[in-house]
Amino acid sequence: MSIVRYILERFKQSQIKFTLNLKQGNIMEMPTIPQPTFYIFKCEQSSPPGMPKPSCVSEQTRDLFNHMSQRLMEKGLMGPVQPIRTSCLGRCQMGPVMLMEPGHHMYVQLTKEKIDRIIDEHIIGGRPVEEYLIPEQFWGEPQKLS
Ligand code: FES
Repeated sequence: MSIVRYILERFKQSQIKFTLNLKQGNIMEMPTIPQPTFYIFKCEQSSPPGMPKPSCVSEQTRDLFNHMSQRLMEKGLMGPVQPIRTSCLGRCQMGPVMLMEPGHHMYVQLTKEKIDRIIDEHIIGGRPVEEYLIPEQFWGEPQKLS
């Protein structure tokens, strides 16, 4: 099942409705969409040939996002878990990387096997997979802006 079709099915199955006032005063009934439990920002940056800086997407890693989406669909998690393709997340030396929110968890050096375990243990089990997280010295606390 494609992602679009899956989302449309979830819309149809939703029992909760709300009404939306349109400009002309028309009332339209729409299903509500529950807030996602997790957002997964997967870096999909690919450096051009000859670029000295490494990037998260190469010939060997280009199907990680699709693998993750497929697993989430198989486990019925697409929707509550929202995978998002992003550009560079600033940790290129440790790619492929992805950031999970809430929690600010940065997973590094991803493989399909690691993604499967992150889905099972972090998303379903509620326990981040510590050994796949970025080392503290490369992450630390967020900068204070004021
Ligand atoms: S290319 Fe992925 S973090 Fe920079």
